[in-house]
Formats: sequence, C-alpha cells, structure tokens
Amino acid sequence: MELRGMNRSQFRQAKEIFGQSKDYLQLDGKEVDIKKSARNFFDTLPPGKSYAEKFNFGIYEGSQLVGLLDFIQGCPERETDFVGLLLLLPGARQKGVGSQVQKKIVKLAKNHGAKKIGLAVLRNNPQAIKFWISKGYKLKKETRSLGIRANPVSLLKLEI
Ligand SMILES: CC(C)(COP(=O)(O)OP(=O)(O)OC[C@H]1O[C@@H](n2cnc3c(N)ncnc32)[C@H](O)[C@@H]1OP(=O)(O)O)[C@@H](O)C(=O)NCCC(=O)NCCS
Repeated sequence: MELRGMNRSQFRQAKEIFGQSKDYLQLDGKEVDIKKSARNFFDTLPPGKSYAEKFNFGIYEGSQLVGLLDFIQGCPERETDFVGLLLLLPGARQKGVGSQVQKKIVKLAKNHGAKKIGLAVLRNNPQAIKFWISKGYKLKKETRSLGIRANPVSLLKLEI
C-alpha cells in the first residue's frame, strides 16, 4: 500500500472511487451525489482552515487506486490533525489495507508535530467505529451532524 498525493486534475479518478462506494455514501441518508462527494473531497475545508493545511491522498495497491484519504492539519485545534475521509473500495476492505493506512496517518501527524488525531464517524457505521476503536481511538463526543455530514456522528480521538 502506498499513499500518493492527489490533486483536482485527478477528479475523475476520485469520482470513480465514490461511484463504486455507494454503500458508504448511502450511510449519510441523503441523495447519493458522486460528483458532489468528489468535489467535497478536494474543495471542502473545515471552518478557518486553508488549502495549505489540507492533503488529499490516493491509496494505491501497486498502480491501482483503491481508496481516498483526506487529511487536515491542525483541526479543530493546533495539536490535532483530522482525518476528513478514509474510504476504500468495497473489494479492498477487510484485507488489512485500512490498518496500514492508519499507521501512515499516525506517521503523517507525528511528522507534523501533532499530539492527537481526530475524526468523525457516522454513528450508523458500526464497522468503522469498531475499526478505529481497535486502533486505540477513544470516543470523545457525539453530535447530531458535522460539516458535510447530515446524520449523527461520533467524534473519536487518538493520542499519539
Ligand atoms: C473502515 C475501513 C477504512 C477499514 O479498513 P479495512 O482495510 O477494511 O480494515 P482492515 O482490513 O485493516 O481491518 C478490518 C478488520 O479486518 C481484519 N483483517 C485484517 N486483515 C485481514 C485479512 N487479510 N483478511 C481478513 N480480515 C482481515 C482486521 O483484523 C480487522 O478486524 P476488526 O473487524 O476486528 O477490526 C474500510 O473498511 C472502509 O473504507 N470502509 C468504508 C468507508 C468507511 O466506513 N470509512 C470510515 C469512515 S470514518
């Protein structure tokens, strides 16, 4: 598994991943809009953040793009880096790829000098919650919605 930086010139490839991951998009209960999801992946910033602090990665197995990662530095506070999205194609799940990506996320955050990693998981995504809890992330808060997510989310954090 390798993480490679992605930019908007790869919009079509990102859209392809969302198109094959409708199961995940459906969890947010809204109309599934693949184009909008790809746009959010590249363009949406949390309040007060800049594009210099947002990193889009493609998750590759060899030459094949199998997933997407959106990583934001210093969010919501300076010492926390935030995972905006971790999404693997259905066929790439449950094979240990997510665990490898998680380790790289910790490295990225440590290199940047962060002390914590934060993320929001939809409450109706118990597999993902189980995944993060198994990596040591702790439940910090539950909210009715957050940013682009319309449905209730759990906020999780890992001290690194
Ligand atoms: C959540 C997600 C990122 C996890 O990544 P993953 O690659 O599926 O996870 P892993 O394979 O590393 O680990 C998941 C489980 O599979 C098991 N596993 C690891 N390697 C395995 C293998 N070779 N064969 C079978 N199972 C394996 C792990 O033990 C782990 O078990 P657990 O259920 O007890 O935690 C991924 O499933 C995904 O993209 N899901 C859809 C989008 C999503 O929900 N994203 C999270 C939003 S916050």
